[in-house]
Amino acid sequence: MDARIAWLNGEYVPLAEAKVSAQDRGFLFADGIYEVTAVLDGRLVESPAHLSRLRRSAAALDIALPIDGAEIEAVERELIARNGLREGGIYLQLTRGAGERDFLSEPDHPTLLLFTQARDVVANPAAESGVAVMTMPDIRWKRRDIKSVMLLAQVLAKRAAREAGAQEAWLVEEGYVTEGASSTALIVTQGGTLVTRPNSDAILPGCTRIGALAAAEKMGLPIAERLFTVEEALAAREAMLTSASNFVLPIVRIDGHPIGDGHPGPIARELRRLYIEAARAG
Ligand code: PDD
Repeated sequence: MDARIAWLNGEYVPLAEAKVSAQDRGFLFADGIYEVTAVLDGRLVESPAHLSRLRRSAAALDIALPIDGAEIEAVERELIARNGLREGGIYLQLTRGAGERDFLSEPDHPTLLLFTQARDVVANPAAESGVAVMTMPDIRWKRRDIKSVMLLAQVLAKRAAREAGAQEAWLVEEGYVTEGASSTALIVTQGGTLVTRPNSDAILPGCTRIGALAAAEKMGLPIAERLFTVEEALAAREAMLTSASNFVLPIVRIDGHPIGDGHPGPIARELRRLYIEAARAG
């Protein structure tokens, strides 16, 4: 039995009993946004970055946040305490609310839901084994900088990746990798430069990306924010992904081809170590 406590529209409630209306616009129109914030040692990771992206996404949809950033953090800390969460994440979803099924209905109140998910982020076996990714066309809409709950393309991409024995999908547009279905994509060139796509409407600006790039700077690694092709990724020395649910994870295969020697590379390992160290230091 799921004993988790969630927060829904101002109340702490058992997650199993948390109910939203069948007319919620999140359900009917995917008219909503979300955030996933990592929790490590019972503390929020990169919370200011997640809150600022949440504000940006909410503004893009013209949905007013019912509580401010400080109150959201207070709720998140209370959920961490009530659920005894040490490691994992907090999921937050904000929708325009419940109203008649009409494209332009304007509900009185948005729906705001938060719940916790426990997961071993540090002791993740995938950090040792590395993960495989599969490339596929990026069929998403053109405002990927908004963290929309409209995730059908990502769900289908991940299902296809799983079918092919891969753990993540890399989405490709005009020959260039945009990002992972739920992660930022990075490679290390043979020359030793860390390459990742610059932020734009084409990708979600990753919060973990910020910390990983800071760690790369600390390592003295050359960084290039530019587009890269699938061919370049296949020829890379290393590849990796970053996300709040995985921090930094080495990628060892792309479309069945080994990257480097087919094992997690030293740069990905070191970036992961530094990222976790900084997250722990708060
Ligand atoms: N996904 N790109 C996409 C499309 C994402 O969905 C995510 C995060 C990222 C990485 O962003 P961040 O580093 O802020 O987590 C990039 C979350 C974890 C998810 O959907 O579960």
